[in-house]
Amino acid sequence: MNDYLQTNARYWSGTYNAPNVESFIFRFYGRILKFDYGIDGSGHERLLDFGCGQGAALAFFDNLGFDCFGVDIAANDIAVARSRMPHIASHFAVIDPKPNPEQIFFGGNFDIVISIQTLDFLSNTDFDLAIKCLYNNMKVGSKIYASMNGWAHYYRNQATYVGDGLWHVQFKTDRLDYDLYLNFVRDKEEMAKKFSLFRPVYLDYYDYSFREEGSELRYTFFGVKE
Ligand SMILES: C[S@@+](CC[C@H](N)C(=O)[O-])C[C@H]1O[C@@H](n2cnc3c(N)ncnc32)[C@H](O)[C@@H]1O
Repeated sequence: MNDYLQTNARYWSGTYNAPNVESFIFRFYGRILKFDYGIDGSGHERLLDFGCGQGAALAFFDNLGFDCFGVDIAANDIAVARSRMPHIASHFAVIDPKPNPEQIFFGGNFDIVISIQTLDFLSNTDFDLAIKCLYNNMKVGSKIYASMNGWAHYYRNQATYVGDGLWHVQFKTDRLDYDLYLNFVRDKEEMAKKFSLFRPVYLDYYDYSFREEGSELRYTFFGVKE
């Protein structure tokens, strides 16, 4: 359990091929950033993706004019992001799996932070460190959009609770071979509590299922640093 971060890092040390911007990212952009706040990238807003992987979301925002930065523990995926966006290759960094609230990424002062399907790889204690780190990297008035696994996510049915919010997800199917530690959030109230450093604006969710494997429910939080 103590070295759960290492187990998760081992899993991510391969490559996670995710080349395209996800619908919940471009809809977040169109419906919230642009519609509600008039933020469309023309102001070159500073945007950080915590757990950016190969930079699919960042490539979308980069194209719109945002000043994009990404951090991740997976060196292979950061290398893919850099070669995909050579004009901002220096805007990507490989970070340590253990969150550090004092760590400032690329000068901080971000206008927007996104973190999709990443913070749920942390225990409650480490989540609190990571969220403080993100808070410290943000301007007053800046926005955060992040997702966490929902309670109904089918991985949890295959998992054993090991404490501090973490479930050991260990199962093999014809398609998957998982040995991971994940955090699951019960409901929107718990989601608001986890992100209580920020003023909540929208608590939403997305869900899908393929091959009838089960629900992949994720809650999303959108809020503002005041
Ligand atoms: C499911 S992928 C999501 C990637 C990307 N955000 C997306 O939506 O396509 C999870 C990402 O979280 C990263 N990750 C896992 N543990 C992390 C940690 N402790 N700190 C930062 N990133 C982490 C992984 O390397 C991986 O790129």
